[in-house]
Amino acid sequence: MLRLVVLISGAGSNLRSLLETSQDAEFPARVVAVGADRVAEGFDHAEQFGIPTFSVALSSFADRDAWGDEILAQIESWQPDLVILSGFMKLLPPRVVATLSPNLINTHPAYLPEFPGAHGVRDAIEAGVTETGATVIVVDNGVDSGPIIVQERISIVHGDTEATLHERIKPVERRLLIQAVLDIANATIDLKELS
Ligand code: GRF
Repeated sequence: MLRLVVLISGAGSNLRSLLETSQDAEFPARVVAVGADRVAEGFDHAEQFGIPTFSVALSSFADRDAWGDEILAQIESWQPDLVILSGFMKLLPPRVVATLSPNLINTHPAYLPEFPGAHGVRDAIEAGVTETGATVIVVDNGVDSGPIIVQERISIVHGDTEATLHERIKPVERRLLIQAVLDIANATIDLKELS
């Protein structure tokens, strides 16, 4: 049974999808804790499923490395096999990435390496392209630049706003994330080989 720690910053709809899927006894992974850089709205999902949460605010620390060390300590206290960033809107310091990766993956609402960064959905619309996508990657020290685990194309339709497009991307992200966790748990994907 793969032990998962999920880091979020916002609504946590991808987290909820993992929590719901974990209810299936056949699913070979369980969320053991949910962390965030704030008291995130998505903690409500964790609480509904009885999953412990922790928040580590950057503003409470002298610098990013000290903040990262505390997040790492919180994560490691749950002895995860895999850490998932899903809507976590901060870059983890190099020490954290070096310790956790490649067992550290991230979902991104674009077809990487297209449109990396915090505004991938908006950037795709502003670029005037007719398709974007969703991607699950291994986190490295870049911005959404790690090895790609799985990705899928999604069309941009005329009149799409950032909100309508993102709401169409998220279900695909959730499906890809669940599949990635399944493949990692079943050793169909070897993260060390990918990296
Ligand atoms: C997701 O699209 C994720 O890829 C991006 O932010 C969104 C988070 O959505 N980084 P939610 O918090 O899971 O609803």
